[in-house]
Amino acid sequence: MSKDLLNFQALIDETEQPKPYDRGRDSMWTDPYISKRLLQVHLDPNVEAASRSPKAIEATLAYIQSLVEKPASILDLGCGPGLYTHQLAMRGYQVTGIDYSVRSLDYAKERRDTEELSITYLQQDYRSLQLDQKYDLIMMIYCDFGALIPEEQVIVASAIKQSLKPGGIFLFDAITEASIADMCFSTSYSIAERGFYSPEPYLCLDKQFHFPLHHAVLDQHLILFEDGTSRLYRFWNHYFTTQQIQALGFSHITMKTGLLHGSGPYNNEKVAFYAVQP
Ligand SMILES: C[S@@+](CC[C@H](N)C(=O)[O-])C[C@H]1O[C@@H](n2cnc3c(N)ncnc32)[C@H](O)[C@@H]1O
Repeated sequence: MSKDLLNFQALIDETEQPKPYDRGRDSMWTDPYISKRLLQVHLDPNVEAASRSPKAIEATLAYIQSLVEKPASILDLGCGPGLYTHQLAMRGYQVTGIDYSVRSLDYAKERRDTEELSITYLQQDYRSLQLDQKYDLIMMIYCDFGALIPEEQVIVASAIKQSLKPGGIFLFDAITEASIADMCFSTSYSIAERGFYSPEPYLCLDKQFHFPLHHAVLDQHLILFEDGTSRLYRFWNHYFTTQQIQALGFSHITMKTGLLHGSGPYNNEKVAFYAVQP
């Protein structure tokens, strides 16, 4: 939160023409109020904004089951409230989930304990993973690998390669070049009394950008409050070519589209699932 920023020229300079990979000023995932709202969004089966629909999750689980047989060991990076880890444990896999949202992990742990399942949950930032075990499959679902900037992709891919057993698979999904046609690179606004970003009233200015040379898209949200303070959230994402994935050190690449049938670029049939091996 930055005070004294309701200086329109300064805000225009800051937000009109962001460059790859300008960061926002604020982080959504760990904000206590937002994380509460986010958990509700994760758990709402009718909203595909933080986790996908039960049907999409089931399609993804079926794909995972076709890749590795139980009781394979699976690590879910960015597991959120454990919608996948829970199901995988029920189906006989040895599962670990990592997330840095305490609120999501608390929900996942409580559900695990109530249902007496064996799942390991670790609170870590996956950009600096500390693992003492190797896995048959490491997954990152909901276009989260592409949400990393390229330097972070290299770091995370390297940690994943070190943490895979021989023959192990890294499974991630990502938007594709075809998804760009479903995005609106326009500006829109909304006013909320007690909205997703804050219990205080705010005006939200949203803008989406495409950086074709970087294969990157940016969702930018500028939040203006009545007291003159503002917040700036930026979410980057990427689409990948086979060569880019090879450059990250993965040589065996299987790409599958058509698995999802939800709405919008992060949930429809154009989203690609990459099962890759070093
Ligand atoms: C879009 S949600 C997807 C959650 C889950 N994969 C699913 O599809 O239901 C992204 C998740 O990644 C977590 N996350 C984002 N950045 C992270 C980081 N650097 N380290 C650990 N977790 C992170 C967030 O807290 C959130 O739970």
